[in-house]
Amino acid sequence: MLDYSTNVAGVKLEHPLMNAAGTCRLLAGDLSIRELVRTPTAAVMIGSITVTPREGNPGNVYWADNFYSLNSMGLPNPGLPYYEKNFHEMVALTHGVGKPLFVSVAGFTPHEYALLALKSVKGGVDLVELNLSCPNTWEGGNQNRIACFYPELVFAILGRVKREIGADAKVSVKLAPFSDPGILSEVAQVLKDTPLVKAVTAVNTFPNAFAVDPSGTSWITFADGFAGLAGTALKPIGLGQVKQLRSWLPNNVDIIGVGGISRGRDIVDYLSCGAKAVQIATALLERGPNVFSTMLSEYIDIVG
Ligand code: DHB
Repeated sequence: MLDYSTNVAGVKLEHPLMNAAGTCRLLAGDLSIRELVRTPTAAVMIGSITVTPREGNPGNVYWADNFYSLNSMGLPNPGLPYYEKNFHEMVALTHGVGKPLFVSVAGFTPHEYALLALKSVKGGVDLVELNLSCPNTWEGGNQNRIACFYPELVFAILGRVKREIGADAKVSVKLAPFSDPGILSEVAQVLKDTPLVKAVTAVNTFPNAFAVDPSGTSWITFADGFAGLAGTALKPIGLGQVKQLRSWLPNNVDIIGVGGISRGRDIVDYLSCGAKAVQIATALLERGPNVFSTMLSEYIDIVG
């Protein structure tokens, strides 16, 4: 038997490919954990989850074209009390087929991140992904700050989470794509200095992208049409972020690559830039759960 296994943040994975956050939040119409455990995904990632239930942004909030997708979902999810009640069953489902359960959490304050992380760890999840990079929440007409772009805020959130769950917990930090390498290196320094951080997930969607139909009307109807960009167009940016992070982070911090992965070739490319595992969102949403076996056989064809 050939061995394609890998390891992120001390969690063993049978191979490097898993679903990304945003594809399994346990809402009607979403892919469910039951469906994911029947695929060859290496882990099941749920979330992002928030402290209180959220309906998400109204109107048309997802659009996909040939080379990209846009989303402005607004963190729809049933909220922490629902997950708290159901974590054990979710863990049993995924562990029952030998897959770890990961959860992406999104707070609006350092305290909320700490609470979400604590309840997740108590619920038995194998890895908490701190989503510091959601671009799609607005309050009173103003867009919320994207936490990862503010090194002091990243420091405050990580400190608060570490105080709650201890430095030994398995935590990954999900970052947005940075166009300023200087700030990315500052954030990398904060991550490096915090023993809590065992992995970094790079990258989230590129904020405030915009696309129109032939009549000039925006496809997305929320927030004047601004939305996070994902899909194939994001791949070179994601690879660049992974490569920069790999050069700055110590070897005991793993990188999970995400952004524009839709073929076996893309998995190989992310691994060659320093990722230990990869995640897919647009490819999964557009092509459905069979995409895992297709991409894995392409990957195996390349790596042998
Ligand atoms: C959403 C989008 C993101 O890119 C993200 O990281 C978290 C949430 C959303 O709109 O729900």
